[in-house]
Amino acid sequence: MDKLIITGGARLDGEIRISGAKNAALPILAATLLADGPVTVGNLPHLHDITTMIELFGRMGIEPVIDEKLAVEIDPRTIKTLVAPYELVKTMRASILVLGPMVARFGKAEVALPGGCAIGSRPVDLHIRGLEAMGATIEVEGGYIKAQAPEGGLRGAHFFFDTVSVTGTENIMMAAALARGRSVLQNAAREPEVVDLANFLIAMGAKVQGAGTDTIVIDGVERLSSATYRVMPDRIETGTYLVAAAVTGGRVKVKDTDPTILEAVLEKLKEAGADITTGEDWIELNMHGKRPKAVNLRTAPYPAFPTDMQAQFISLNAIAEGTGAVIETIFENRFMHVYEMHRMGAQIQVEGNTAIVTGTKTLKGAPVMATDLRASASLVLSALVAEGDTLIDRIYHIDRGYECIEEKLQMLGAKIRRVPG
Ligand code: EPZ
Repeated sequence: MDKLIITGGARLDGEIRISGAKNAALPILAATLLADGPVTVGNLPHLHDITTMIELFGRMGIEPVIDEKLAVEIDPRTIKTLVAPYELVKTMRASILVLGPMVARFGKAEVALPGGCAIGSRPVDLHIRGLEAMGATIEVEGGYIKAQAPEGGLRGAHFFFDTVSVTGTENIMMAAALARGRSVLQNAAREPEVVDLANFLIAMGAKVQGAGTDTIVIDGVERLSSATYRVMPDRIETGTYLVAAAVTGGRVKVKDTDPTILEAVLEKLKEAGADITTGEDWIELNMHGKRPKAVNLRTAPYPAFPTDMQAQFISLNAIAEGTGAVIETIFENRFMHVYEMHRMGAQIQVEGNTAIVTGTKTLKGAPVMATDLRASASLVLSALVAEGDTLIDRIYHIDRGYECIEEKLQMLGAKIRRVPG
C-alpha cells in the first residue's frame, strides 16, 4: 500500500486549480442511466471513486468512452445486466446511487446493500422507503437490494425525509424524473451537489423545481435525452487547501472554484484570523505568517458547516491559539483522526459527539494511519505543520477524494512525497 511522507515546517504559498466535485460527479454519472441516448460528462475528477463508478458501468455492459480531456461519454442503451455486484459496491457506498435510475429507466435493479464504513453505520432505509413510496417492490436478501417497479412504471409520490440525506435525496430525485406524475420531496438535502444533479437532469429534459431548498417538486417525463454537462467544482477540496494554507500561516489562491458554495467554511476561516478575498471563480486566503485562532463549530446539513470539513478543522484547532469545541452531528463515528493526531502530540479530548481541542504551538511528526477519506486529509494537514517527518499509511483513502494531492501540495511548497508500498 502506498504511503505519504511529509516533512513539516514549510509555509505554503502559491496557486492551484480545484478539480470537479466527487460528490456531484457520482450522482451525475449514475443519472446518465436515465437517458435514452449518449450523454457526455466533463470536469470529472481523476479519482478512484470515479473509476470505480465507470468500472461498475462496465460490469453492467455499458462501455464508457473517455476522451482526452477526461470527459466521459456514456450510452445506457447498451446495458446488459441490472446488477451492481457486492465486490464493487463494498469499495464505494455511493454505488447505491444507481438504484433509483435503474428502477426508473429499466423497471428493476439488484444492488448490493452497501455496508457501513469507518465513519458510521450509513443506513439506506430512506432510499428504499422513497422508492417504495413510488410503488416499487423491494426485498433485501442475500446482501442485495432487489427492486421491481410496478406495472406501468414508478408513480410520482409525496415523500418526507425524516433525516436529511444527500444521496437519499439524489436517488429519489433521479427515480422521480421518469416516474408517472408529480413527486414532492420534503426535508430534502440542500447541498450544492444536489443542485448540480438537478441541473444535469434538467439538461436532459427533466422537470425539476426547488433544488437547493428543502422541498423539491419533480414532474415525471416519458424520456430523458442526450446532453453534455460539466460537473461543478469541489467545495471540500477547496476548503481543504484553504485550511492547508491556514495551518501553515501561509497563502493560497484556489482557482476554478466557487466562493458561494462554502460560505460557512469561509466564515470559520475568517474567525480563525484568515484574510480572505474572493472573485467569481477563485478564493485567496492569506494568514500573513500568523498562527490561526481556535474556533468552535458544529456540523449540520447545508448551508451549515459541512461534516466533510470537520476533520480538517480539528487539524487547524490542534495548532491554533486557544481551545475550540467541534461538535459532529451527522455521523456517529467521525473522530477516528483524533486518535491518530494524539500520536503527533495533539491535545484533543473526545466526549460523545464533541471534541475539545487545545491548541499547541507545534506537533511532532509520527507514523500514522488513514482511516477514512477526510480523516486522511486532516492527517496530511497536521503533518504539514509537525516537526520532522510524518509517514501516513493506507492512503488509498486519500486517493478516493483528492486528485493528485501530493503534486498540488508540492506546487504550494510542501515537502511531500509518495512512497509506493
Ligand atoms: C453524502 O453521504 C456524501 N457522500 C458524504 O461525503 C457526506 O459526508 C454526507 O453526504 C453528508 O454530507 C456522497 O455524496 C457520495 P447522508 P450520504 O445520507 O448521502 C443518515 C465524503 O467524504 N441516513 O446525507 O451517504 C445517515 O446515517 C463523503 O465525500 C439515514 O438514516 O450521507 C447520516 O447520519 C463521506 N438513512 C445522515 O443521514 C438513510 O437512508 C446523513 O447521511 C440515509 C442516511
